[in-house]
Amino acid sequence: MLHDIGDIFAPYNHDEYAASILRPFVREQCSWVVEKHGDFQIVYYGQHVGGNQNKREKHRGHTFFDDCATFCERWDQSSFDPDCDTLPVSHFEARVHEIFARTPYDPAVLRPGAQEKLVN
Ligand SMILES: [Fe+2]
Ligand SMILES: [Fe+2]
Repeated sequence: MLHDIGDIFAPYNHDEYAASILRPFVREQCSWVVEKHGDFQIVYYGQHVGGNQNKREKHRGHTFFDDCATFCERWDQSSFDPDCDTLPVSHFEARVHEIFARTPYDPAVLRPGAQEKLVN
């Protein structure tokens, strides 16, 4: 839900912008996926805008490469489908409050290198 925050303020690097806001409050795995998702998402539309569809390849081998590919495939890309089954914003409200109420840069939250299975 938060991976595109700042898109209106940073249309050319919204992924980095969003990651900089989220980084103090989420696991490293999550902030890395947010920061790099633009490089992965272009695989789906690069051919239509003259972009490099293989931009994500520069990240291949990174611990979180597959996580970012999965994130884009399961959620980011599929959300462009007008028939995508979504929950109302109110469903996420308490979770968003909980995330931004965390102590910034809490090592117990950031857990550098930790890799959790991505779930809905
Ligand atoms: Fe995005
Ligand atoms: Fe997105």
